[in-house]
Amino acid sequence: MGNAQFADRLKNMSGNVIREILKLISQPDMISFGGGMPSADAFPIEDVKKIMTDIVSTADTNILQYSASEGYAPLREYVAGWLEEKGIKALPEEVLILSGSQQGIDLMAKSFINVGDSVIVENPTYLAALQIFKTYEAQFTIADVDAEGINIESLRKALETNQERNKLLYLVPTFQNPTGLTMSAQRRQEVMELVTNYEITVIEDDPYGSLNYSGEKIPALKSFDKNGQSVYLGSFSKIISPGLRVGFAVGPKEIINKMVIGKQATDVHTSNLSQMIVYEFCKRGLLAPHIDRINSGYKEKRDLMLKCMEEYFPAEVKWTTPAGGLFIWAEMPQGVSTVKLLEEAIKEKVAFIPGNSFFASGGGENTMRLNFSNASPESIEKGMKKLGGVITNFLD
Ligand SMILES: Cc1ncc(COP(=O)(O)O)c(C=O)c1O
Repeated sequence: MGNAQFADRLKNMSGNVIREILKLISQPDMISFGGGMPSADAFPIEDVKKIMTDIVSTADTNILQYSASEGYAPLREYVAGWLEEKGIKALPEEVLILSGSQQGIDLMAKSFINVGDSVIVENPTYLAALQIFKTYEAQFTIADVDAEGINIESLRKALETNQERNKLLYLVPTFQNPTGLTMSAQRRQEVMELVTNYEITVIEDDPYGSLNYSGEKIPALKSFDKNGQSVYLGSFSKIISPGLRVGFAVGPKEIINKMVIGKQATDVHTSNLSQMIVYEFCKRGLLAPHIDRINSGYKEKRDLMLKCMEEYFPAEVKWTTPAGGLFIWAEMPQGVSTVKLLEEAIKEKVAFIPGNSFFASGGGENTMRLNFSNASPESIEKGMKKLGGVITNFLD
């Protein structure tokens, strides 16, 4: 005890605030809109049971052996074909299977960031990505967001600042975590055109793209990449299971090769069994109908939460209407602290995530993230009524 000499890189790091809040609110009678978890009834448990039985009864011993860091070849090929829907043309060799897309953010940071290098981020953005970049001792350059996505003038300014240190541009352009907002197709094209003038690589983090409730086709940012300047990260977490830990990166061979070196050091390869389950699920044609089924349930929950907000939230509160994903973002009047509001909400057994932790450089104290996928419709109705009451009292 007391002699541990930790690395400098962890000096200013605390644990993930959301995970801490989730621990705090994990009481059985709490209605939580906090985490970003899929609904338990969205898991295809019967199909997975059958697939696992089939795999285990027919596979040879290789299933228990080490395998390639790049991933299970049939799954790489499947992913390459599947991405055509989003306008991405990729060869199987350009696909790296990951242990969740979060690993892709980590491997990109590992491959690109020297101490003090800069990552350009939207404000607000995915908290865990900020944490990953910080562990590699990156700095952040902030770009503003407007109704269509990252603001081009603000991005240009960020790209001009500190040019030689800007290494990565990290974006969640579709049904963003935490705001639920989506970048327009026009803006995607403008972003990819603008970055061709700079030596920067774009990370397009897209774990929510298939949770699309309007049916409107959204081309990937990567589909506008003519220069091999972006890496697309996808995931099966929200559409099959987060517990299987299967995601993927798609990018130029040169970058994928660096990520493979990083992955060899991190976890050698993603679990064979998980990769095979995901592959079989897709190959048997179960993915598309499953996505349709969960989307209709999530759409109902989103609509219910929005209806409850209209009904129970005071008029001064503003919020987003996401066309997909798992989150609604709400803004209280200036000067209101949602951290303090959460304390009151917890007393009433309802919880959300205060928005300030999603901001790389402070701000957002009056914002909150609400998840609508995990709670039942009855809990959404009950919890939102309670939360509306808490906010009303708090603003009085
Ligand atoms: C924006 C974003 N990126 C990445 C992830 C990580 O997902 P995975 O389970 O694929 O690692 C999440 C999970 O919530 C997320 O919200």
